[in-house]
Amino acid sequence: MKRILSGMQPTYQLHLGNYLGALQNWVNLQGTGNQCLYCVVDMHAITMPYERDGLSKASREIAAAYIAAGVDPAQSSIFVQSAVGDLHAELMWYLATMTQLGKLDRMTQFKDKAGKNAEKAGLGLYAYPVLMAADILIYQATHVPVGEDQKQHLELTRDVASTFNHRYGRDFFTLPDPMIMGEATRVMSLRDGTQKMSKSAESDLSRINLTDTPDMIADKIKRAKTDPLALPDTVDGLEGRPEAANLITIYAALSGLTKAQVVAEFAGKPFSDFKPKLAELTVAKIAPITEKMRHLLAEPQEIDAILVKGAETARSIAAPVVAEVKDIMGFWKV
Ligand code: TYM
Repeated sequence: MKRILSGMQPTYQLHLGNYLGALQNWVNLQGTGNQCLYCVVDMHAITMPYERDGLSKASREIAAAYIAAGVDPAQSSIFVQSAVGDLHAELMWYLATMTQLGKLDRMTQFKDKAGKNAEKAGLGLYAYPVLMAADILIYQATHVPVGEDQKQHLELTRDVASTFNHRYGRDFFTLPDPMIMGEATRVMSLRDGTQKMSKSAESDLSRINLTDTPDMIADKIKRAKTDPLALPDTVDGLEGRPEAANLITIYAALSGLTKAQVVAEFAGKPFSDFKPKLAELTVAKIAPITEKMRHLLAEPQEIDAILVKGAETARSIAAPVVAEVKDIMGFWKV
């Protein structure tokens, strides 16, 4: 049996990159004997300045987005990280003692987020990958479906798990495999095809949010940056054309076609023919999710009940793992 674990931060709104790079894959991984655990990683969200009064609501909204996108609470456990925070933070501390600073120094997400002022960044932001390792290892997850930007964190997780196993001479932690799946493992900004689509980019025109209305989606796609050429007739023809490559990738991931099939369909066509089709497809996929999210959020107590149940399941898996880690590490017990 595969044990699948993944998470998203409750910061801002989820966007098309989160959906295509991760969430859509989470939904597809359900069933077929997999045990799926999907977490709202709120303890990660506080590593950057955040709004205290909006945090709890944001966690519910992300849970609603998971469900609206097709994560089925009857098949998958959905939970908020801080509801099992004592155990995640405890394991993080143990793992921190076997994480080399040199490795943390190389983490690109820290460099991106801390910017030029790294001296002033918090310890939490720096230690973030250790908490992420704990999030995964505490459930002995075998597979972690994420977008490409999380690959480095997954490598560190495997590294820390091996260090533990080696240091204590026990084959205890499962080394999780990243699952970087589908056509859109790295969705780029609609304003600049060389930059990742991100929650924090200044221009809202750079991303499609799961909460955007159909008109907003159509408008953003219409205004998306392109180049003056027609669409190529081979995938190789997208080389050096980041914006065209991104829009074709999005189309492929939304439609379930390969990039080659999409290119074949639109070969030689101008963007003015392609963009309305892309807008139509995006709206067809996103609008029902937005609508379902709105319904779910009208009944927050139902989401809370799902999250309470999810946390119970999460705790029932995590508590024995932490107890065994303590035992392996030689802590006092009666
Ligand atoms: P976060 O919240 O930034 O993003 C959530 C998921 O969305 C993917 N993603 C993208 N995929 C394709 N194109 C994009 N432009 C794009 N932007 C985001 C991310 O790869 C991710 O899968 N560190 C994690 C959260 C985390 C986690 C974990 C994930 C904490 N603990 C344990 C898995 C397992 C993060 O910041 O994701």
